[in-house]
Amino acid sequence: MAEKDSGFVGVFDSGVGGLTVLGCLVAELPHERFVFFGDSAHAPYGDKRPEEVLALSRRIAASLVNEGAKALVIACNTATSVAAQALRTEYPTIPVIGVEPALKPATLAPQHRRILVMATAATLRLGKFQRLEDRWGADSEVIEVPCVGLADLIEKGDPASPAIHELLERYLGPWRGKVDSVVLGCTHYPLVCDQIREVMGDVPLYDGGEGTARETRRRLEAAGLLAPDSQAGSVELRSSIDTPDELALYQRIFELARR
Ligand code: DGL
Repeated sequence: MAEKDSGFVGVFDSGVGGLTVLGCLVAELPHERFVFFGDSAHAPYGDKRPEEVLALSRRIAASLVNEGAKALVIACNTATSVAAQALRTEYPTIPVIGVEPALKPATLAPQHRRILVMATAATLRLGKFQRLEDRWGADSEVIEVPCVGLADLIEKGDPASPAIHELLERYLGPWRGKVDSVVLGCTHYPLVCDQIREVMGDVPLYDGGEGTARETRRRLEAAGLLAPDSQAGSVELRSSIDTPDELALYQRIFELARR
């Protein structure tokens, strides 16, 4: 008899950034089936009004759940800040896991007094980040750097482009040598960590991908939804720009994110 299908985990972001989280999810949960949706047609989310991000997130979540998603991972800091609460209310029987800037591990490292947080303007402005900072930032100096335009440039698919280097130099250059660590508070930013190091030197970088993957495992386990070890894992990549070129770009970035 064929084994019962354990369902798939739906993962979404405004675009290619969520592939960095997907890479961590696949490493942590190799037997799961993942369907990733990147909303590149509407990226970036970070410059949009919260109502717009909420409406876009709701639409994506509804289509994944209607298709049979057993859990949702919001692989986007901006969409998590805006929509996680609403989606948890709307889908009470489905684990909804979000991401957040990895401020907690950065503040727990003993030598990290001055912590620079790079994120979208929306993530830094919204109450969720302010609460995170109140909770974990009390003994540190947290420097918030909204990186307007950066996710948009990364979306274009050339992480080594001079335009990205220029923007990073503009936002981060003034802080070179003056901070103890950098938190990558947008899931697009791990794709340019080499360029961030070029500007900032050898400071520790923190991103939330691995923590999110561990949390997803915990939540699936608690709900009895973990795929059996006998199941072969799989990944399906989808984009709201549904062209062969865009999907090839997703595939290339996913391979980069898994390294
Ligand atoms: N990757 C997203 C995040 O983590 C959003 C980037 C954007 O679309 O502005 O915030």
